[in-house]
Amino acid sequence: MSKAPLVIAIDGPSAAGKGTLAERLASHFSLPHLDTGLLYRAVGYLAEKTGREPAEVAAGLQAADLADPVLRGDVAGQAGSKVAAIPEVRSNLLKFQKQFSSQPSGAVLDGRDIGTVICPDAAVKLFVTASLESRAERRYRELRGRGGDTIKPRVLAEMAERDRRDSERAAAPLKAAPDAYLLDTSDMDADAAFAAALAFIEGKGFRSSGP
Ligand code: CDP
Repeated sequence: MSKAPLVIAIDGPSAAGKGTLAERLASHFSLPHLDTGLLYRAVGYLAEKTGREPAEVAAGLQAADLADPVLRGDVAGQAGSKVAAIPEVRSNLLKFQKQFSSQPSGAVLDGRDIGTVICPDAAVKLFVTASLESRAERRYRELRGRGGDTIKPRVLAEMAERDRRDSERAAAPLKAAPDAYLLDTSDMDADAAFAAALAFIEGKGFRSSGP
């Protein structure tokens, strides 16, 4: 086992498989995991609901605000992507994310700017991506699986819009860190993506200390 704390930074577009991969890696290495998208979703959703300024909502965000299941839906996703373009929102969420990543145990964080802005010194950086069509197909199945009433062309159009907003914004746009390992999951299931990421991480000398 390597001595340096293992910080794993995972970035990529919507529905590329970051969240599942992050959870599996966190469990494998016994590390805490932060889904940073949830922070932006909560800010966007609460700002729309209460009419308060998004930056002010971000400054006062509490852990309890992240528990609402409504945050997992696409309405909160779109709201999150809009407030994520506001520099003050990003800077007000920075300290919490940096503190989370500095735990002595190490940590797994997934989002859009983890390897570039939040944890530029992370021991492991993964950029997880997949074609727009495969991502839209996955999101469609996920939404239907949760009982949502939606149609595939709409999911695809909304995902394309979110990709564009995330990549073109001036504040911390979605892009791979130059030292990130690129993982295209278009033709991979969750097991294959986990195996590929694990091989890369173990290749850097990190091993699970568990049984
Ligand atoms: O995985 P999915 O795209 O559905 O959503 P998410 O990761 O929960 O992120 C929701 C929105 O928050 C994204 O569209 C991004 O604009 C934004 N976000 C961000 O800007 N930076 C992060 N570190 C995480 C999310």
